[in-house]
Amino acid sequence: MSDKPQKKPWGGRFHDATDRFVERWQASIAYDQRLAAVDIVGSIAHAHMLAKQGIVPVDEVEQIVAALHEIREEIETGTFVFSDALEDIHMNVEARLIDKVGAVGGKLHTARSRNDQVATDIRLYLRDEVSALSHQLVELQRVLVDQAEAHAEVVFPGFTHMQTAQPVVFGHHLLAYYEMVARDHGRLADAYRRLNQLPLGAGALAGTTFPIDRLAVARELGFDGVCRNSLDGVSDRDFAIELLAALSLIMVHLSRLAEELVLWSSPPFRLVHLPEGYCTGSSIMPQKRNPDVPELIRGKSGRVFGDLTALLTLMKGLPLAYNKDMQEDKEPLFDAVDTVRDCLTAITGLMAGLTVHGDRARELAGQGFATATDLADALVRTGLPFRDAHEVVGKLVARAEAAGCDLAELPGEALTELAPGADADLLHKLTVDGSVAARAALGGTAPAQVLEAVRDARIALKHHNSKMR
Ligand code: ARG
Repeated sequence: MSDKPQKKPWGGRFHDATDRFVERWQASIAYDQRLAAVDIVGSIAHAHMLAKQGIVPVDEVEQIVAALHEIREEIETGTFVFSDALEDIHMNVEARLIDKVGAVGGKLHTARSRNDQVATDIRLYLRDEVSALSHQLVELQRVLVDQAEAHAEVVFPGFTHMQTAQPVVFGHHLLAYYEMVARDHGRLADAYRRLNQLPLGAGALAGTTFPIDRLAVARELGFDGVCRNSLDGVSDRDFAIELLAALSLIMVHLSRLAEELVLWSSPPFRLVHLPEGYCTGSSIMPQKRNPDVPELIRGKSGRVFGDLTALLTLMKGLPLAYNKDMQEDKEPLFDAVDTVRDCLTAITGLMAGLTVHGDRARELAGQGFATATDLADALVRTGLPFRDAHEVVGKLVARAEAAGCDLAELPGEALTELAPGADADLLHKLTVDGSVAARAALGGTAPAQVLEAVRDARIALKHHNSKMR
């Protein structure tokens, strides 16, 4: 980064130079240089339109476009020298353009302001990021579905209040996350639609006096339409906030999964085995195998929520139209996108390598009288009202607990004393496999249902046809 003093593109009315501290402090180039590629793409489309509309002569636009291509090369190969004194990516590129082609370069900014330019750049940038994140979500969904199919018959403890509730199969549990991620994907697709509107042409705030063709620029850049009000076009950051909200929900889901992985892999549970490549050891305790990856994902959710809060707070009191405050939109946005990208990479790899301790899972699934509801249901089928059945089974649970045995180990009379009409054998028919197999209605945990859901998910993933490129 160069800190040589530079002539400011806006310097005409100034007598004094910018304070050196202020110059550095207010510059965004350190972080908005990641917009370089989209800034240039946007400028090229703008230049083409200026030529087509006869606003700038064709031969001059040709020189400008050729130089912009060279500047892109320089940035890609790392030879471009960014300067603090030129504030941001827009003025850095423009200054280099004028360096290269002389005064003609100064015509590129005709009928344009940095205000509509930056709004366009962010949208172009996010478009690519949202598409990439969507593909990552689909990848995660695929892994979840594969693992769900492989574990469609693996009985696993189901909890409510973190107390043993009813047995499920592990595949069913994984498909719960598949559903969450499917909604996350839908939210990104929805955000993308509103994102994909072109602000360029809004000018500084009021539009432009030149006979521009905004629709032509939108077409060249692949936007679905144009922002219809110039003030709104330069002031709107809803699309960014909306995206951060969608990213926050992704992090809520990843964080819940991460929390479960931490619990399940903890030695007292010993339900799952995390792939070694995703664990770390302790520098003092030789026996440790710590679930750092899920812990870090759980922790990273906080920064993404922080990014969302930062942007909401940034925007809430701003008068129309552009205000310099809005330069603060970029870091939270970039941070959230980067964080979610990496968390998705990590969780997808981890879930692909996850293995389950099936025997241990079956053991825990049966503990804590997990089949009590099944017994109550069976009594209901003999004609007992559910509330009475609940009471009977509750008493049996108390008796089994006192005897230190399971429901299935109680003598048959224990049941018939309390429910005279019942078949004494009911108690002994209680198994975790019977329990899961019986939950065969749509959306239930029966292995057959889970395999059905796996089939549906595969069809959805195959037909998954996003408008995002
Ligand atoms: N770097 C600025 C930003 O990111 C670009 C827009 C500046 N516009 C202005 N009128 N100062 O917000």
